[in-house]
Amino acid sequence: MPLLAVVYFSISGTTEKLAHAVAHGADGLTEVALCRIAGDDIVSGRFQNGRLLETIDRADAVAFGSPTYMGGPSAQFKAFADASSDRWSEQRWADKIAGGFTTGACPSGDQLHTLTYFSILAAQHGMLWCGLDVPGGEDPGGRNRLGSQLGLATHLIDDALPQSDLSTAEYLGQRLAKMAGRNG
Ligand SMILES: Cc1cc2nc3c(=O)[nH]c(=O)nc-3n(C[C@H](O)[C@H](O)[C@H](O)COP(=O)(O)O)c2cc1C
Repeated sequence: MPLLAVVYFSISGTTEKLAHAVAHGADGLTEVALCRIAGDDIVSGRFQNGRLLETIDRADAVAFGSPTYMGGPSAQFKAFADASSDRWSEQRWADKIAGGFTTGACPSGDQLHTLTYFSILAAQHGMLWCGLDVPGGEDPGGRNRLGSQLGLATHLIDDALPQSDLSTAEYLGQRLAKMAGRNG
């Protein structure tokens, strides 16, 4: 069975809920490794969790997740990305499927920039980007509520994630898993 790695940072748990929903969506189609970036993975400003990087080495597909912080990915996610530069020089992650998800406090809180960053990170590694094939505002189930086709963008309403965002996360996980199977 292919492996989907869900690599994410979360402090207050919203991105983590999305990560779990992505994993749930892939259930039965791939094995899933949930890889949470922890604060103490970063020592003197450098990401030092070699095991997490090795999990991605083995994965067929990777979902990148971070809250949007100051209009981009969190510093903790960026520390992880910077630590992947050895892999970049060998293009060790080339041809893996990649997708991304983010959340913010505002409906248009520059989440697109975080997703754009994820897609550029994937391009740097020679990975194949997988967005959402759900037209915003057209889906009977309300998925892709914010109309973001590069990846999943969400925001909190009354301090909670709408169910439609969790359903979109599940769908993204399912899509990444199907692509991983097709690519294998
Ligand atoms: C330092 C900081 C910067 C933030 N910047 C943004 C932002 O640019 N846009 C936005 O919509 N929300 C922003 N937020 C809100 C977070 O994205 C939001 O609270 C998110 O749900 C946190 O994710 P988590 O629960 O996974 O930690 C910011 C929060 C913090 C703490």
